[in-house]
Amino acid sequence: MAVPLETLWDIEPHTKAKHEILRRYLQAWFPILNSWNDRIVYVDGFCGPGRYKGGEPGSPLITLEVAINHRQAMRGKLVFWFIDEREDRILHLKQELKGLSIPPHFKVRPELGKFHERLGLVLDAMETSGTNLAPTFAFIDPFGFSGIPYTLIQRLLKQERCEAFITFMVDSINRFLEHPRDSIVRHIVDAFGTDEAIRIAESSGNRIEKLRVLYQNQLRRVAKFVRYFEMRDQEDRTQYYLFFATNNELGHLKMKEAMWRVDPGGEFRFSDETNPNQRVLFEFDPTTILAKELGDRFRGKGLIPVSTVHKYVENETAYLEKHMRNALREEARTGRVTVDPIKVGGQKRRVNTFPDDARITFT
Ligand SMILES: C[S@@+](CC[C@H](N)C(=O)[O-])C[C@H]1O[C@@H](n2cnc3c(N)ncnc32)[C@H](O)[C@@H]1O
Repeated sequence: MAVPLETLWDIEPHTKAKHEILRRYLQAWFPILNSWNDRIVYVDGFCGPGRYKGGEPGSPLITLEVAINHRQAMRGKLVFWFIDEREDRILHLKQELKGLSIPPHFKVRPELGKFHERLGLVLDAMETSGTNLAPTFAFIDPFGFSGIPYTLIQRLLKQERCEAFITFMVDSINRFLEHPRDSIVRHIVDAFGTDEAIRIAESSGNRIEKLRVLYQNQLRRVAKFVRYFEMRDQEDRTQYYLFFATNNELGHLKMKEAMWRVDPGGEFRFSDETNPNQRVLFEFDPTTILAKELGDRFRGKGLIPVSTVHKYVENETAYLEKHMRNALREEARTGRVTVDPIKVGGQKRRVNTFPDDARITFT
């Protein structure tokens, strides 16, 4: 899609899927963060005007709607910081905000400016004074790849309890990799935080895949957990990846759950060919794939508690607990997993169940 110049533009199907992930994640995450902290911050660094041409809500309104209407009432201070470099879009957002009943403990700050400059100033101040940001979720949703320097995201993620959800425009990056203008190439190097990205232009093979892996590895340098969701266009070509980076185990789990709800087929990919309002057809069976992965990982390790497998699945794979239990049930049925009748604490295991304290062997 060409970058829209008007204040409002038409929503695309993949944007609805992106919003659905955001909505579901915040629905789970706001109450968790809110119950542990007096102050939490949501930064929407490329917030847009708050509405699409057809009347659909944009990310700032979606977020506020989740926080305002959550069945678990929010307490403490919630800061919503909306940044956009276009004055017309910020003005439009301000108009939209007037239509909401915002509770007094919500601090909503629409601000004109460039994301990296605004957040950079806040991080400078924090780093100078040796203080920490309040727990922050940053939604970084640019049209292209400029204005999202890796160094900034790195500084943000180094702060305790801060996480980022990033639209990473890999298709445009790929198209501009060999651009003759230095300034454009500079933006790509800045976004990756390394000029390795440029060297991908000279390599053979799937460049999109290589760019994805490079960015994922860069994020992994500062975040324990990194997940991505692939967005494809009408021609089924990868357009961008939604990356999520966090150091929080529970946040990671909640994001995986949000992604699985949007793509129950589990490829963590949404294509514009599919209608976002319908369930995506199951394109493959997660049970079989996970069962194979678990066999490769745990065969030869002897008798292990299910909790070890559970932790591995939650922290190191795209899958959820329910997929693990289905995979174990299937592997036990075919004899590739044997189950000890006695659990870790000495009690008997109930047939066909895989609680954390059951003990299994991958054969
Ligand atoms: C993809 S749109 C955001 C859509 C919005 N997040 C949503 O989901 O409804 C990107 C927005 O970023 C703004 N923008 C572009 N460069 C920017 C920058 N460096 N800093 C802040 N905003 C920027 C554009 O004006 C545009 O409104």
